[in-house]
Amino acid sequence: MADDNDKTAFLQAMRESVAGETFLKAALSKYHGLGEPARCTVSRVLLKGAASLRLVTRQGTQETTQNFEPEAGLTHLAKIIGSDYLSATLFTVRKDVSLVYSRKKVPRLTRSKPALTEAPSPEHNRVKAYLVDVASPFLAQLGVTHTDKSDKPPEVKASMYGKYRQICRFVEILDQLIVASPLKDALAPRVVDIGSGKGYLTFALHEHLRRLGKRPQTVGLESNAGLVAQCTSIATALRIDGLSFEASRAEDRKHDGLDILIALHACDTATDDAIHLGLTGNASLIVCAPCCQHEIAPQLDGKASPIEGLLKFGLLKQRQADLVTDAARALLLEAHGYEVRIIEFVSSEHSAKNLLITAVRSATVDRRAAASQYAQLAAFAGFKEQRLARLLSDS
Ligand SMILES: C[S@@+](CC[C@H](N)C(=O)[O-])C[C@H]1O[C@@H](n2cnc3c(N)ncnc32)[C@H](O)[C@@H]1O
Repeated sequence: MADDNDKTAFLQAMRESVAGETFLKAALSKYHGLGEPARCTVSRVLLKGAASLRLVTRQGTQETTQNFEPEAGLTHLAKIIGSDYLSATLFTVRKDVSLVYSRKKVPRLTRSKPALTEAPSPEHNRVKAYLVDVASPFLAQLGVTHTDKSDKPPEVKASMYGKYRQICRFVEILDQLIVASPLKDALAPRVVDIGSGKGYLTFALHEHLRRLGKRPQTVGLESNAGLVAQCTSIATALRIDGLSFEASRAEDRKHDGLDILIALHACDTATDDAIHLGLTGNASLIVCAPCCQHEIAPQLDGKASPIEGLLKFGLLKQRQADLVTDAARALLLEAHGYEVRIIEFVSSEHSAKNLLITAVRSATVDRRAAASQYAQLAAFAGFKEQRLARLLSDS
């Protein structure tokens, strides 16, 4: 009976903290269930405006997410605590509560001062969890999610978690940039995605803008006609307004006016063509993740220069060339009146090409300083040809 009391007290503490919004998270460990060792984390998220419990279970390389209404979540937790998991810790802003079972499965409840003090805003969780809704039909069409039974909500396929995280992170970054820019009031922003590929980010950003109450006009521009046909048929089947895909090359695209230019992993100098399109189209926002950079490396010689040793080894030379290429692009963007940030947008475990250049048009950038830094960089690194610089000087 004492055992039941401890477990009941633990679940009651969780119930009260969820209802009273003092809940931070809960963690289940000491796995005694079937299969590989597992851990489970419980968080509070908003689902369609209602507080819900999200259980994320990691078992080997598998990650499973389950969402529950709070009471159903507590019923589920009552089943797995003490059987599958022999340790459960609840973190709240007021206190932490731990329920640990001995080998003989005798529970012991302890309360302690809170280890974490800041309550995550449910809004924050909403952003993390819902900027790209797992239930979005485009995710199923693109093979990111699936559902085993018709009455079950879709889930992200285990093999597609990396891609799903990348899509979410990308939309989250764009959301923050849009909200902080005049685009937040734009009713029908014009978006161009260069090298849109299978369209993951094109669909995701378009849908997100629509959720913000806008009527975006989005074009995915892609040189592979097969991918364009696939994306077009999905957009048509889902009757998505304002989203189209065009089979053409970035360098052939005319400089139409546009608001948001994105290019994720557009190959080699297609990133320069994309940035050029954004600059000449007077985009408010240019966001690109460079891919392979082949233009600068052969121009880096370094012979008899202080950095000769740095350029002697092929791999290091390529990395220097990547850095020089992206620094050159960032400086050219600044020199054309954009405030630039360079961030890692996903962990390097998921993609080595995880660098994101974000550029927001601004009247306060020191354009002359950036132009002079660009000239110094070119002279020091020893490159004469840079596609974006050439395109800009020709236009
Ligand atoms: C690595 S994929 C990235 C796809 C997508 N942006 C993503 O992140 O999922 C690069 C895409 O760029 C396309 N591409 C390469 N060069 C291009 C160019 N000059 N113009 C248009 N598309 C190009 C390729 O066909 C390919 O689909």
